[in-house]
Amino acid sequence: MHWRTRLVQPQTLARGGFASLAVPTHRGSTVLFERQADVADDWRHRDKGYTYGLYGTPTALELGARVGQLEGALHTFVVPGGQAAIALVYLALCGAGSHALVPHSAYGPNKEMAAGMLKRLGIEVEAYDPLIGAGIAALIRPNTALVWTESPGSVTMEVQDVPAICEAAHARGVPVALDNTYAAGVLFDAFAHGVDISIQALTKYVGGHSDLLLGSVSVRDAAYKDRVGDTFKQLGLAVSPDDCSLALRGLQTLGLRLERLEASALEIARWLAGQPGIATVLHPALPSCPGHETWKRDFSGSASVFSVLFDDRHSARQIEAFVDALRLFKIGMSWGGVTSLALVYPALERPGRDYAGRLVRLNVGLEECADLKADLAQALTAMEQAR
Ligand SMILES: Cc1ncc(COP(=O)(O)O)c(C=O)c1O
Repeated sequence: MHWRTRLVQPQTLARGGFASLAVPTHRGSTVLFERQADVADDWRHRDKGYTYGLYGTPTALELGARVGQLEGALHTFVVPGGQAAIALVYLALCGAGSHALVPHSAYGPNKEMAAGMLKRLGIEVEAYDPLIGAGIAALIRPNTALVWTESPGSVTMEVQDVPAICEAAHARGVPVALDNTYAAGVLFDAFAHGVDISIQALTKYVGGHSDLLLGSVSVRDAAYKDRVGDTFKQLGLAVSPDDCSLALRGLQTLGLRLERLEASALEIARWLAGQPGIATVLHPALPSCPGHETWKRDFSGSASVFSVLFDDRHSARQIEAFVDALRLFKIGMSWGGVTSLALVYPALERPGRDYAGRLVRLNVGLEECADLKADLAQALTAMEQAR
């Protein structure tokens, strides 16, 4: 055959049987079929075999299976990011005329999607007090299609009574979804506490090194698997096998990282609680955090993010000066990696609570605690001196 043909259709020379500990990175869009009669276009790769790279190569399926096994899920879909996971749940469960409930403390872009795209599609999303517990029953309407939970909440860290919310929602036939990113799918057992769909931004703890973007949607029963799966296919939420390979590596050290991050974040949080100028430390493992008792009851540990509220003697300018003065804590949004981060949240919509630009969220990384405390101490001094 001509060399041009051989370039495209070579004889494979490499030997098979490479038994390695690493999961191979399978790249591929087109899937080959033996016979025309075998051709199919089906996202059920795990059950029926591969049909198209869009629905996941073996690398993405391996990641989904491992995340699913940790969470005790029937099935886990791997999607391009945490926000894609949130969108997938909304679009799978809600349609024009649906009503959905989301806590005030939910991740900002979740609420942004509710106010933007979902509103345009005729889906009404109502925000509720994250500490409402069984009181959610009063907000459920005949057209309520979904209750979101996120525990602890983004930035303000309220720990929700997820079992009470699930019980009330299920009594009215309404499914409950949880953004379980904080717990990395392991510090809170979503399905044992009644949740129907658990999502994670794998970008955070599973990736663990701030170098990939991925999300997961885990379902616990067959009805949700099909609804989510069909929507997943129609949206074309393909993921990169290279990112999945990094996430699979991240999973191997997740246990160690979480243990160390928990210890360091707690040490820093307790230390900050004793510093002058700080009104409250919002860390789920401290009694000062709303929902702390629920955290004690339902969680097996705490993670690396928490927030500090400065007392009202400080101006917004001084809080900014604090963050700007930090050297080891970098200014950045996406938490859960090895590097410590800080960020001021000037505009937070939390009815009944006024944080007025005095709230700073910290992500504690794997640096030595003594160095992190020294960094915070010099920034606290710089804040007091700033006007
Ligand atoms: C609680 C939570 N959920 C979801 C997301 C979205 O994840 P991603 O950045 O992978 O889209 C984030 C990201 O910050 C988050 O903090």
